[in-house]
Amino acid sequence: MQKHYFIKTYGCQMNVHESEKLAGMLRSLGYTETENMENADVIVFNTCCIRDAAEQKVLGNIGAVKKLKKLNPDLIIAVCGCMSQENGRAELFKQKYPHVSIVIGTHNLHKFKDYLIQYQQTKKKVFEIWQSEKDICEDVDMYRTSNNNAWVNIMYGCNNFCTYCIVPYVRGRERSRAMADIITEVKQLIAEGYKYITLLGQNVNSYGNDFKDGTNFAQLLTELAHLDGDFRIKFMTSHPKDLTTEVINAIATEPKLSKVIHLPVQSGSNKILKLMNRNYTVEHYKSLIKQIKDTVPNYFISTDIIVGFPHETEKDFMDTYNLVQEVNYGGVFGFMYSPRTGTIAEQMENQVPQDIKNARVNKLLSLSKEIIKEQNKQLVGKTLEALVETEDDNYYYATLDCGKNVIIDKTINLTLPTFKNVKIKAISGNKLIAEFI
Ligand code: SAH
Ligand code: SF4
Ligand code: F3S
Repeated sequence: MQKHYFIKTYGCQMNVHESEKLAGMLRSLGYTETENMENADVIVFNTCCIRDAAEQKVLGNIGAVKKLKKLNPDLIIAVCGCMSQENGRAELFKQKYPHVSIVIGTHNLHKFKDYLIQYQQTKKKVFEIWQSEKDICEDVDMYRTSNNNAWVNIMYGCNNFCTYCIVPYVRGRERSRAMADIITEVKQLIAEGYKYITLLGQNVNSYGNDFKDGTNFAQLLTELAHLDGDFRIKFMTSHPKDLTTEVINAIATEPKLSKVIHLPVQSGSNKILKLMNRNYTVEHYKSLIKQIKDTVPNYFISTDIIVGFPHETEKDFMDTYNLVQEVNYGGVFGFMYSPRTGTIAEQMENQVPQDIKNARVNKLLSLSKEIIKEQNKQLVGKTLEALVETEDDNYYYATLDCGKNVIIDKTINLTLPTFKNVKIKAISGNKLIAEFI
């Protein structure tokens, strides 16, 4: 009888991509995907612990599948990802969630298949968390799930220890993948017809630092941008302290590099940036933005911001607010600071009350909404490149480099997917209406 898997993914693109690896391993064992958790023989929770809300969601969802295990004692429930790797969490799953059979961390995800087989053979629960990272494992089955976009890891881990952040504790130190391995993978993906290749790392700008031979991110980008084929390279995330002029120049001049730059600023106050251990100033950040605006055609800049970090006064917050207005971001991901166990900021005095965090994040997000509305208006009349992805009888559906959706009258015949220049004619809700030129 056909066996089914169901994977629930939380958190960032890194996790989305790792779920593709989990799916690959499950498929190599003969499982196929089900969209209905009730039909699954294996349920995997690929977890995130970046904020408390993420963890509460995970715990609630894992608690809720207890009834499925009761109905089907052969059901295998596995938990992996950042939350499993967090101090004390595996023990919590063991004690409080006895219906969970397999718990593994971030460093041994590539061995999930072995643990699953081991559990099936012995029926002994597997709680296996490695305390530190090992060498990068290149040899993992993968089942890609995001249409025309393919995710590619270029590095793992983070060395930055921003004082609020749990990631360095659950993802280990920075390890870059060999450039030759990345290029081989990207070439293969282009040959398979993927149009967007998105390079993933917690801080892509420090790619290659660990090789200590001068290899850097600008080099990698340039090599990839010179490959043959019809594709665009995207990447995330950039840390402002490591974004070099060389990288900005590559983005500005290489046609196959996406012009989307996600540059998390976190705060517009130097006092707060220092407390966050971000290692740049607002002035430096603004100089990067100026360089981008001066040199990159059709740039799209987005950011992450944390409000309510300890010691953040109304004045600090307004500095952030004013920076958002000044930079005129195409997108703002605003978060309320959430204390994470074991981080430096958790121990800081002057924690900001929840209602103030709420008010600040709402104020910031409504500003961002206004900015985006205005930017959409200004797109009317512009000619931009879009990836035309799907069609129906009357329209083509496309996405711009920045991810905005575009609807185009079907005046020509195209073989999809394909890149095409389109002229924006109007806006309808949050969709852009365009025509071919
Ligand atoms: N490596 C990336 C992304 C890290 S996580 C980077 O450095 O930009 C994504 C975002 O979550 C961060 O940019 C930050 O804005 C937010 N974040 C991280 N820890 C947080 C915390 N403890 N509370 C609230 N937001 C947090
Ligand atoms: Fe977290 Fe900072 Fe590393 Fe990003 S750079 S993952 S925010 S510690
Ligand atoms: Fe990503 Fe969450 Fe881990 S944001 S790196 S899945 S803690």
